[in-house]
Amino acid sequence: MTLLPSQQRLIDAMPRPAAPEALPAALARLEAISLAAILRVLIEQRALVAETGRDAAAVAAALGAAPRHAWLIGRWLAVLAARGLIVRDGAGYRRAAETAPEVATEALDAVYAALGFPPGMAGLHRLALGHLVDLARDRTGLPELVFRNGGDLADLGAYQRNHFTAALNAICAELVALRPRRVVELGAGLGHTTEAVRARLGALPPDYLFTDVSRLFTLAAERRHGVDTALLDIDRDPREQGRAPGSAALVLATNVLHNAVDAVRALTHIRTLLAPGGWLVFSESVDDSAATLGAMQFLLSPAPGAPRPGSGDERAREGRVFLDTAGWRRALEGAGLAIHSILPDEDDPLALAGQRLFIAQAPEESA
Ligand SMILES: C[S@@+](CC[C@H](N)C(=O)[O-])C[C@H]1O[C@@H](n2cnc3c(N)ncnc32)[C@H](O)[C@@H]1O
Repeated sequence: MTLLPSQQRLIDAMPRPAAPEALPAALARLEAISLAAILRVLIEQRALVAETGRDAAAVAAALGAAPRHAWLIGRWLAVLAARGLIVRDGAGYRRAAETAPEVATEALDAVYAALGFPPGMAGLHRLALGHLVDLARDRTGLPELVFRNGGDLADLGAYQRNHFTAALNAICAELVALRPRRVVELGAGLGHTTEAVRARLGALPPDYLFTDVSRLFTLAAERRHGVDTALLDIDRDPREQGRAPGSAALVLATNVLHNAVDAVRALTHIRTLLAPGGWLVFSESVDDSAATLGAMQFLLSPAPGAPRPGSGDERAREGRVFLDTAGWRRALEGAGLAIHSILPDEDDPLALAGQRLFIAQAPEESA
């Protein structure tokens, strides 16, 4: 598969929300609520004080955060400071305001509805913000909170369903509709991209391989979609995991590659999987995704003792988990994959949430 549809055809494939003009205000409100909740907890717990600057490690210690979540506290502080909500004081941070901010979580229902999320998302976010201290201390986890409150895996995955991800999944489906010889989906999880492909084609192509690092998801996909599945870890060479090199004409990876310990190494593994001239199509958040800092990002902390996503690449410097667009360009170049396009365009309302779809190609002749 060497020919892709025109960029315009891919842009046209993206479903558009009925009220795109509502997106900027809804996103700004969501971020403000999320950051206010984080700031309030840091102030109430006296982790962040006015008198003296504390570095991220000292704030995490004062909050009693579990070591595996310390990176996240660091990102909280970096984002709060970047938004002018706290003061950077030498190597540390101080609170700026006398009082803790009010947190208008009752507004989350309307905000999430405007962004195209399912109704349960506001409740999930409220649940997380209401248990921020326990989450940071590892006294509970997000899955546990959801299950204890009568929810299930689909409720936990609600954050992956919205206008922005629907647009990117539709482009993935459009590319699978070209009938590349072998499609391998990485980190396919709850199968939102798989479902978009199925909706576009009526059925999954027979040579579609659904993979994930977790058997939970491959088993669920076998039941739901009757699809071939395999366990596949992006941090390991696919050849060691039973995959033939050069066997995929198209690799899909939506919202998964940030989990890599080393992004260049993971992309190099994907290059091994790709046939000459094959396509890698992946979506990623390209900023700190401030709205999820007090909720879903707890899921990105490694198990105790395991390496943190990004700890083997340039993200380690700042404790980030998400690379920006320039970072992904560098990583793709480092892995010998050529960028074809990055969608949506910067000025598209569907780009506002900070998610991008990268389309990259393996060399025609393997080096
Ligand atoms: C945010 S979910 C995205 C799921 C799906 N692609 C979607 O967009 O709906 C991330 C997925 O990556 C998987 N994952 C995490 N680390 C991985 C790894 N090292 N190798 C492969 N998959 C991984 C998780 O199990 C999870 O299913």
